[in-house]
Amino acid sequence: MTYDFDTIIDRIHDPYSFSFKWQSPSYILNDLGIEKWRDDVICLETADMDFKVAPEIIEDLKKLCDHGIFGYSRIPESYYKAVKGWYERRQGWKFSEKDIFIFSGTHEAVAQCVKRYTKPGEGVIVLTPCYGYHMDVEGNGRKYVTVEMINDGNEYFTIDCEALENACADPNNTMIIMCHPHNPTGRVFTHEELVKVAEICRRNGVLIVSDEVHSDILRKGQDFEPMMKVCGPKGLIAATAVNKTFNLAGLAMTNVIICDEELKQRGGNMYSMPTPFGIQAVISAYTKGDAWVDALNEYADGNIDACIDFIHKRLPKAKVLRPEGGYSINVDFSGYGLSDEEVVDKIYAKAGVILNSGLFFDDKRGKQIHRACLSSPRALCLEAFERIAKQFEE
Ligand SMILES: Cc1ncc(COP(=O)(O)O)c(C=O)c1O
Repeated sequence: MTYDFDTIIDRIHDPYSFSFKWQSPSYILNDLGIEKWRDDVICLETADMDFKVAPEIIEDLKKLCDHGIFGYSRIPESYYKAVKGWYERRQGWKFSEKDIFIFSGTHEAVAQCVKRYTKPGEGVIVLTPCYGYHMDVEGNGRKYVTVEMINDGNEYFTIDCEALENACADPNNTMIIMCHPHNPTGRVFTHEELVKVAEICRRNGVLIVSDEVHSDILRKGQDFEPMMKVCGPKGLIAATAVNKTFNLAGLAMTNVIICDEELKQRGGNMYSMPTPFGIQAVISAYTKGDAWVDALNEYADGNIDACIDFIHKRLPKAKVLRPEGGYSINVDFSGYGLSDEEVVDKIYAKAGVILNSGLFFDDKRGKQIHRACLSSPRALCLEAFERIAKQFEE
């Protein structure tokens, strides 16, 4: 089957859209101090996709709608088999049905890990610049401890093992949240990097929560290795989800994998009751979604190639690096020698393109670097960069 990733779907006006990304650009713009913006904004922020969900999943959800009763739900064996089957087939990672715990979204999963496995006041380490886990950590009265990664000057980030060692040596720091593949840097950590992180953490008694929600979205030629497959289950919890992979974030279905029996005991009661829609979507995605994800990855490669080519030609002073994982790129506009306010004004207010400024991921990253999620029809991604280029060419 061929899949359509090119149709532009109206997520602003459609009454069934309920899109956070497209219907609340003010949440980004107000933060950047912008009071006036174009009505015809193009949103390339929030990491969800503007593609329709795989037809195989939609078909099954229609059948669920036809059933017509959405009462309290029971999770069938086929759910656990589907999750287990996907990771065995796609990542060569084996675990048992009994190791799967369902949470309502990855933030909820991470927040629950923080609450269940650390004490108030303890430190939770995050490798920055990083997707924000502030609410999950600080929202639960724990300390957000940042370990900066090493930037080679061209936005390629590696783990600073010495800094990590120092942070882990502090007995108050009892957990690390690994974001793998890493958002926003686009890194897919290597086998050696994962082994090193696990060694440092285990030696210092730091529990690892590996957030692997981007692990199915990989750039051409990249291999993803699940941290648990590489490092074994001891002291490690992995969060996986259909949310990013299948554009199902609104159904909030996160599967946490815990194979370490002691951690299962310490975690306490992990029962949750997802909706029938969430249950069916996971079963359909993980049993019928392989071809769609492969096609999606191919399309995302094409989007990234097209946008990077465009940037090289039309925004020659901007710097951009091809990611290893995920579908976003970080564009550094500092070569234009403009103030932060001028850069923000051109992109967000004048061009009407909503990205995520560096500030979103690290307060030291400022407003010269902006992340663009290229998970939209190619024409829309290119239109966004066309509008931006016009502003910088003036
Ligand atoms: C690395 C990472 N983890 C978690 C989330 C949030 O996931 P969820 O929607 O499952 O809560 C995001 C969303 O962008 C993310 O990038």
